[in-house]
Amino acid sequence: MGKGFYISRPLGFVLCGLGIVAMLTIFSLSVVYTKEKRKNQVTAINETGMVTTAAPHTTPAPSNEPWDKYRLPDTLLPEYYNVTLWPRLVPDEQGMYIFTGTSGVALTCIKETNLIIIHSNKLNYTLTLENHHAKLTGLGGTSAPAILKTWFQTQTQFMVILLNEKLEVGKSYWLYMEFRGELSDDLAGFYRSQYTENGVKKVVATTQMQATAARNAFPCFDEPSMKAVFHLTLQHPPETVALANGMELGTESITIEDKKLLQTRFKPTEKMSTYLLAFVISEFTKIQSSEKTNIRIWGRKEAIESGQGDYALNVTFPILKYFENYYNTTYPLSKSDQVALPDFAAGAMENWGLVTYREQSLFYDPKESSNGDKEWVVTVIAHELAHMWFGNLVTMRWWNDLWLNEGFASYVSYLGADYAEPTWNIKDLMVLQQVQRAFAVDALVSSHPLSSREDEVITPDQISQLFDTITYSKVSIMCQRQLEITLLNSDIYQCLFNAVVSGDSRIQLPASIKEIMNRWILQMGYPVVTIDTRTGNISQQHFLIHPEAVVEKPSDYNYEWFVPITWMKSGSNMGQHWLLTKTALYEPMKTGTDWLLANLNVMGYYRVNYDPQNWERLLTQLTTDHKNLNMIIHRAQIINITLALRTTKYLLKEKEYIPWESAIRNLQYFFLMFDRTEVYGPLQVSLFTYYKKSNQINAISMACRTGVKGCSELTRMWYRQWMKNPDSNPIPPNLKNTVYCNAIAAGGVEEWDFGWQMFKKSTIAAEAEKLLYGLSCTKEPWLLNRYLEFTIDPKQVRKQDAAFAIVYISGNVIGQPLVWDFVRAKWEQITKDYDDGSFFFGRLIQGITKKFSTEFELKQLQRLKEDIAASSFSFGTQAIEQAIEKTKANIKWVSKNKAQVMNWLTEQST
Ligand SMILES: *[C@@H]1O[C@H](CO)[C@@H](O)[C@H](O)[C@H]1NC(C)=O
Ligand SMILES: *[C@@H]1O[C@H](CO)[C@@H](O)[C@H](O)[C@H]1NC(C)=O
Ligand SMILES: *[C@@H]1O[C@H](CO)[C@@H](O)[C@H](O)[C@H]1NC(C)=O
Ligand SMILES: *[C@@H]1O[C@H](CO)[C@@H](O)[C@H](O)[C@H]1NC(C)=O
Ligand SMILES: *[C@@H]1O[C@H](CO)[C@@H](O)[C@H](O)[C@H]1NC(C)=O
Ligand SMILES: *[C@@H]1O[C@H](CO)[C@@H](O)[C@H](O)[C@H]1NC(C)=O
Ligand SMILES: *[C@@H]1O[C@H](CO)[C@@H](O)[C@H](O)[C@H]1NC(C)=O
Ligand SMILES: [Zn+2]
Repeated sequence: MGKGFYISRPLGFVLCGLGIVAMLTIFSLSVVYTKEKRKNQVTAINETGMVTTAAPHTTPAPSNEPWDKYRLPDTLLPEYYNVTLWPRLVPDEQGMYIFTGTSGVALTCIKETNLIIIHSNKLNYTLTLENHHAKLTGLGGTSAPAILKTWFQTQTQFMVILLNEKLEVGKSYWLYMEFRGELSDDLAGFYRSQYTENGVKKVVATTQMQATAARNAFPCFDEPSMKAVFHLTLQHPPETVALANGMELGTESITIEDKKLLQTRFKPTEKMSTYLLAFVISEFTKIQSSEKTNIRIWGRKEAIESGQGDYALNVTFPILKYFENYYNTTYPLSKSDQVALPDFAAGAMENWGLVTYREQSLFYDPKESSNGDKEWVVTVIAHELAHMWFGNLVTMRWWNDLWLNEGFASYVSYLGADYAEPTWNIKDLMVLQQVQRAFAVDALVSSHPLSSREDEVITPDQISQLFDTITYSKVSIMCQRQLEITLLNSDIYQCLFNAVVSGDSRIQLPASIKEIMNRWILQMGYPVVTIDTRTGNISQQHFLIHPEAVVEKPSDYNYEWFVPITWMKSGSNMGQHWLLTKTALYEPMKTGTDWLLANLNVMGYYRVNYDPQNWERLLTQLTTDHKNLNMIIHRAQIINITLALRTTKYLLKEKEYIPWESAIRNLQYFFLMFDRTEVYGPLQVSLFTYYKKSNQINAISMACRTGVKGCSELTRMWYRQWMKNPDSNPIPPNLKNTVYCNAIAAGGVEEWDFGWQMFKKSTIAAEAEKLLYGLSCTKEPWLLNRYLEFTIDPKQVRKQDAAFAIVYISGNVIGQPLVWDFVRAKWEQITKDYDDGSFFFGRLIQGITKKFSTEFELKQLQRLKEDIAASSFSFGTQAIEQAIEKTKANIKWVSKNKAQVMNWLTEQST
């Protein structure tokens, strides 16, 4: 697919204006969180030599009892589990959906103990033998001690079994339990998803175990390093099909409690972590590949039959082949299932052999979906499949090393996607997305180092907060350059290092790779390097968005880095130099009348600033010969505002997609900060110039963005046409975001209600998503308030979409104050109903505070923080901390730059 493909996204961005926040949020947050949740995995860090940074496994605990610590003791190892589960797809007399199950685990004692501590959360135990909830027997002729007592530690999510004698080292035992749990709609553990087909309600039982929810489905040693083999059996209604990590071995009819059921047994899994388990019971259908590996795409019958799974099936095989070759290891399982679920919190999850997706991440409809939707699908699939090796086969020992899994998967996902769609320039796009995303978060003092100590990440909350931008994007940037080495048998530092030194192995190192890399991995943040071409002085400084922010986290390296400075002088003369100290004089940086450009292709994870004279030379160069310089300059993210605005002028000549997207992304910040101020008018006027000059960028969205009259007429005309004939939507897929948004903004209740009906009726996830966004654009406060009420009513808007919808509404200038009041007023209800960890709240808080840039807003945020601290609610604390810091930075930025921006814009229009 050609360039047009890319254009669709910036359009999306440009035109949304108000919706930019939302789009960005969706794309960045959903990339991040989505991938994350779907994807966390573990990597045997052990093989990497990284362990040196991990503290010994001592957790300061409120008490010394082993069951009060969050980490499992090191006394027992699971070998294999036999688990049978029976989810009920209809509610019981109390209206509750439940599942029942039995589970046995073979465990080996490796240190003497008279305690068995096993994870269990929200399960009720139904087996009672002499008042105990478990049965212990010896395996291989061993005899087992008697159980004295069993009890539950809710805080640490343990079931504790006290024995009358010690277990013997080297001996194995069988621990058996029976239990029941709720198949609730909370999108975690063993949960239910619902949809309607031909007017009939269908219920799906499915799972999301990562990070710590396998313990909600059955009792297990729920830590990534506690790998075991799982023998799974599922009991399910006759009309349904059951899937799990392993291939189905066979299905038989059985009768339990007078109910006719099917019982499906599965091939035992590889030895694997609990968080990668998955099972799905549904009436889904599939399409299948005839190729060697058994590749199947599953989903709602209607979606599969209308061909929405075809694209996924087309790209899966090439991507799997690509990774087999990349990792030099064949895909270890006999099948690869991918399932699209109507309700799914993250974007996708890399369960081994049974990858689960949000429908939008797996389904693509050639007639209705946009190019951006397609790119999203292929990147997500590649990310998940990359985990089949890195993460699933090789797994991190503990969650503090999540960044290795996610960073690598994010990085190689672009390689895999690029292989499947070689004409899309996906790798360049990735640099843009990831660098900008990581640079923004990592410039906060509330950021964190890539690698945390093992004892800093203990509780489920702490673990889920790790699924953030730093974890996903920072490594993937550092690895952006070809890593010629194979991950599985080499040193991780080498990969990261390759990135930093631009992949040139001939470069002489000033220190060991480890010494260099520790500075990048163990300290948060990154430097801005200032080059003075008049004197040849180069210096580095920790880059902070809010320059006066106080860095409280100590660093062993004093926030100095070993910075590889690649440079180019007037287009020909190139070189590389290590900056090892705070400042240094380096003769070649003295340039006379040549321009100097550093950090070529943004291969290094740092920003660059120059003396004003060199900036002038670069800008002149950019306007005369932009071909060579555009990407580099934009990606370097210029810090001086006037300069940044000036670089946008060259866009008038630019025909490529990437520089546009980059510039537009930078401009978005301007809109966020200024769309409620007097700068907004001149900003629109100035963009209008681009609109006139840039016919290759979609004129409609530009026009709408800049308030051209014709825009609203055209979009309303299209939308009206659609309203007259709802079965035939005349709006081109790539323009839907713009058209829906603008038509609904210009229209009234009729337009809104029609959009809502179409949203409720839509059977294509990508389409529903666009409507969800478009509906947020109305200018009617009462419609926005009604929409807000819908967002937290799961009968109206799926829980998986609630945070996105609210964030979209807050992107609307009129909606923003409404959202803030709404969220504050409903805080209790929202926290109760959307209790899925920091995932939802992080997304929500970050999204709705994006525009915050006044003292008043800052005070409100601080109040929220205090209220939360005073309640028992502990989610989203990191997100609030970051929002507060960003708001402070925004206040500062606006006060410093508003006048400058206003002046510049006014000058341009005269
Ligand atoms: C890594 O794991 C292997 C096998 O479990 C073990 O023999 C080795 O000592 C471990 N290495 C480190 C550095 O912990
Ligand atoms: C667990 O299940 C496997 C496979 O069905 C079976 O061979 C094994 O005997 C079971 N183990 C125990 C202890 O019941
Ligand atoms: C588990 O027990 C608690 C307390 O009796 C009860 O409220 C809950 O509904 C039970 N859950 C299930 C799934 O039976
Ligand atoms: C899938 O591949 C087939 C065969 O190459 C092609 O005809 C079809 O258009 C592709 N479908 C999609 C949605 O890309
Ligand atoms: C790939 O793996 C094979 C077998 O393990 C090994 O012989 C070969 O050297 C590997 N190739 C590369 C490029 O590492
Ligand atoms: C280089 O510039 C920095 C920052 O302006 C200054 O502190 C330092 O003294 C200069 N170093 C040299 C060698 O001139
Ligand atoms: C930004 O650069 C321009 C031109 O070089 C200069 O006039 C202005 O003072 C700079 N502003 C800041 C805040 O450094
Ligand atoms: Zn992942």
